[in-house]
Amino acid sequence: MKKIKVRTSTSYDIYIERGLTKNCGDIIANIVKTRKIAVISDNIVDKLYYDTIETSLQKNGFTVSKFVFPAGEASKSIETLNQIYTFLCENNITRSDCIIALGGGVVGDITGFAAATFLRGIDYIQIPTTLLAQIDSSVGGKTAIDLPCGKNLVGAFKQPKCVICDSNVLSTLSDEIMSDGMAEAIKYGMIRDAELFELIASHKLENVNEIIDDIVYKSISIKRDVVENDEFDTGERMILNFGHTIGHAIESYYNYQTYTHGSAVAIGMCMITEKGCEKNVLDKLINCVNAYNLPHYCNAPISELLKLCANDKKRESNYINYILCKKIGQASIHKVCITEFEKFILN
Ligand code: GLY
Repeated sequence: MKKIKVRTSTSYDIYIERGLTKNCGDIIANIVKTRKIAVISDNIVDKLYYDTIETSLQKNGFTVSKFVFPAGEASKSIETLNQIYTFLCENNITRSDCIIALGGGVVGDITGFAAATFLRGIDYIQIPTTLLAQIDSSVGGKTAIDLPCGKNLVGAFKQPKCVICDSNVLSTLSDEIMSDGMAEAIKYGMIRDAELFELIASHKLENVNEIIDDIVYKSISIKRDVVENDEFDTGERMILNFGHTIGHAIESYYNYQTYTHGSAVAIGMCMITEKGCEKNVLDKLINCVNAYNLPHYCNAPISELLKLCANDKKRESNYINYILCKKIGQASIHKVCITEFEKFILN
């Protein structure tokens, strides 16, 4: 089993091994004192993995309860959060107990936020079941819910007690969800690791399983390094937003219907690279995203995307931070006023 230590305000380990969900109870029993645990999941993941997790937890003496909500971004709402709080109250979950997020990014984000706020904070554990959740959202302690006026607008930093990653669970994912996660893996290669980029670029969606263990380990290691240096996202952590400012605008322009997060980020990475980098970097990036069935452009009018970029929740007053990778593996942060960003993109 591989273990990655994350040294943040509260430190924790990320455990990575194929088949690990079967033994999650052994790990968790060594990490938490309580023997009372609540699992939060969605209806798809619940059917696939809950029984395995429950068996392993019960074998280790845990009393387990579960709350399941409908899969999808629409559930990352204040209404679902309220239902989770009610469920935790009804099951007498106390400050010394623990909750588990079993699922993808939506489950991880809302469960993490419930853990950050219920009783002013209780322990939680991430068992991410999508590639995107394993290599991005389950690591680093960002938790959130959406509001009707935007995604991730209410949230908190709350590091988990541990993260349990089992690459076997990725085998049940559709190609579209796998591609979604691969956009973030390509991003890690672009911002920090030319070798990882080359490894990914020398494969494609059809044979990515041959290298998925390496991708998961290397991507998580990069995210760990960045988060350790800037846990609260005031500096270096912004490099993780490569492709995201335009990507978020694209998702929003199409009302979150046409492009997955990963597809929008792939387009965002290509658009910003086209503006600020040499053609050979752009060509490599386009070939790589296309090899994972990800798009490199969309037809949304640039003027509309720029309006949405100006409203991005990550802007600081009149300033926007955009990320460029002039060389593959090297990212730089550019803080400019919004009009300057517009000029840069329209050039
Ligand atoms: N997903 C970006 C971050 O964790 O900062």
